[in-house]
Amino acid sequence: MKIAPSILSADFANLGRDVQLLEQAGADYLHIDIMDGHFVPNLSFGMPIVKALRPITKLPFDCHLMVTDPAAYIQPLATAGATMIGFHAEATPHIFRIIQQIKQAGCRAEVVVNPGTSLSTIEEVLPLVDSILVMTVNPGFGGQKFLPLMLKKIQRLAELKQRHHYNFEIEVDGGINQTTIKRCYRAGATIAVAGSFVFAAEPAKQVNLLREAAEA
Ligand code: DX5
Ligand code: ZN
Repeated sequence: MKIAPSILSADFANLGRDVQLLEQAGADYLHIDIMDGHFVPNLSFGMPIVKALRPITKLPFDCHLMVTDPAAYIQPLATAGATMIGFHAEATPHIFRIIQQIKQAGCRAEVVVNPGTSLSTIEEVLPLVDSILVMTVNPGFGGQKFLPLMLKKIQRLAELKQRHHYNFEIEVDGGINQTTIKRCYRAGATIAVAGSFVFAAEPAKQVNLLREAAEA
């Protein structure tokens, strides 16, 4: 299981320090939640933060767009240093086109689905994507409770992946702790995002706890 700590729970007054702690902790990705105050009722980071963090770490940047106009963010984010760009299926009628645009910009393409969104919405693009992010809480805020109903959805996605020999990652985001990471791993998830759990104590210790718990 790969671990993608979310800097939404970092100490914003010491963001560079926290990012370096996460790299030392052996994180696999840095998860960066980009919110516009419209798609979700919260505001977080934009391109200048991504750009400022790029030179201080080698970690790949997993950028999670929670915005109403994802197409407008692709090129600026790619230029700022994004490795993977995830956008919400609910935000656009042009899922296919946006995946193509992300790839043309030289990034890995990920589609994100909210808890209430059916996998049928994204079935046609499964052969194209590098990753599918299954939201395990309603997007917008850290520190929420994991939604166990999403385990079935992860399982169904993993079945589709296996049946058709697709090789996308299955990422989970929201309410991940030592218990829920194990349930997600067993259901077929391959990347786990964790914010509040990672920053609840010493990040290196917390990342290790998650990694051990997942595959135990
Ligand atoms: C929520 C964000 C998450 C958030 C997860 O909308 O997408 O990435 O940081 O936080 P926790 O792990 O605290 O649920
Ligand atoms: Zn996220």
